[in-house]
Amino acid sequence: MTLLVQGGRVITAESERDADVLVEGDTVTAVEPGLAVRADCVLDARGCYVMPGGVDPHTHLDMPWGQTSTCDDFTSGTVAAACGGTTTIVDFCVQQPGQRIPAALAQWHAKLERTPPVIDVGFHIAVTDPLAPHTAADLGDAVAAGVTSFKLFMAYKGSLMVDDEGLFATMRTAARHGALVLVHAENGGVVEVLVREALAAGHIEPRWHGLTRPPAVEAEATARAIALAGIAGCDLFVVHVSCREALAPVAAARAAGERVWGETCPQYLLIDETALAKPGFEGAKAVFTPPPRAPEQQEHLWRALADDALCLVSTDHCPYTFAEQKALGRADFSRIPNGAPGIEHRLALLHEFGVRAGRFSLSRLVALTATNPAKLFGLHPRKGTLAPGSDADIVIFDPAAEHVCSSQSEHSRVDYCLYEGMSVRGRTRTVLAGGRLVVQDGEPVADPGRGRYVARGPVVWS
Ligand code: URP
Ligand code: ZN
Ligand code: ZN
Repeated sequence: MTLLVQGGRVITAESERDADVLVEGDTVTAVEPGLAVRADCVLDARGCYVMPGGVDPHTHLDMPWGQTSTCDDFTSGTVAAACGGTTTIVDFCVQQPGQRIPAALAQWHAKLERTPPVIDVGFHIAVTDPLAPHTAADLGDAVAAGVTSFKLFMAYKGSLMVDDEGLFATMRTAARHGALVLVHAENGGVVEVLVREALAAGHIEPRWHGLTRPPAVEAEATARAIALAGIAGCDLFVVHVSCREALAPVAAARAAGERVWGETCPQYLLIDETALAKPGFEGAKAVFTPPPRAPEQQEHLWRALADDALCLVSTDHCPYTFAEQKALGRADFSRIPNGAPGIEHRLALLHEFGVRAGRFSLSRLVALTATNPAKLFGLHPRKGTLAPGSDADIVIFDPAAEHVCSSQSEHSRVDYCLYEGMSVRGRTRTVLAGGRLVVQDGEPVADPGRGRYVARGPVVWS
């Protein structure tokens, strides 16, 4: 089966040019202007951008949290991702208490079987029992199976959090195996004290989620993680950087040539702390961690994306329904499940508020959403670019289409949209994943086939 994407403007991290893209089976075989070939199928991309499919390296599908689980499984979550121009996700497989890492990974593979994804999926392993006797050897086996990134939570005391000894031990294991360490950087002990005091004083409303996790808590843990990674000699990636105070140590380490990278997410660029203080229980929709910050923080993050202090944008899609799941914390903000939906909105929001607002170029948009995540998470050049030999993961994006973000039109199972009412110009029109048509005219096709598990390699970053 051959397919020709014809007449579009091909955008990669390196260039913009008018060109056609030839697909044979599941692979791109040519990217050239005016390709004179007869294909089984032709997709008209005139007036549109043709981009490599997005890589979202931070999602939480079907993830347990206390007594509940995120409300998207691998089918619903990846359908929503595809509708927003993402063709690969790397999801967090979380080690449960007392569980061996191979068992955790087997559990996540079983989820893929039960609820097949429509796009390709890789896994990170979130290590919660780092000092258990088998953990170091198990992590070596995980790398051999293509799970080349280890996540450690420095927050969520009493559930996911690890202490410095566990963090450092895992960093050393990562250094031995050439794996990347990811940190959720907040000082969980300090948060615990602040939350306890707030509740004792009778503060139960969602806005206290923000007030008990100030920027200094994130900055301290970020600097600590960077220092420990330096001693251990491992590569470090700081997830969901939310504020100038935490950005500073990441930027300084990068300027000093250290192998440290960071991401932010659309919620930190576009949602601020006022969302937490909305009347009634509405603020629960913005209970994610780290919390939304003061409005003036956002410009610092935008600038960091432009100057490469931060090198990618993920979604941290972690959806809980407002009606039932967020409601678990009506009488106590600390019981509101932490997380926000957004898997479908990344590309359109960054196109509107990044490219159209003049903050960065179209090529930088592709770097931030596809190429850099593919390089950091060991998927490049198979993913994250459009070149002969790369997977036929292709997005046709119509820059003129107008769209208003709304839970009415999005494809996640969640019952609210964090960006409700925001107008954007530019929308994903057509998506190919491994050469399969998965989205047409902005909507999922009826029979998209299934995506694959992708084993990943080491960081590819020069
Ligand atoms: O609030 C968030 N971000 N929930 C998901 C888990 C995490 O911390 O990434
Ligand atoms: Zn986190
Ligand atoms: Zn997360």
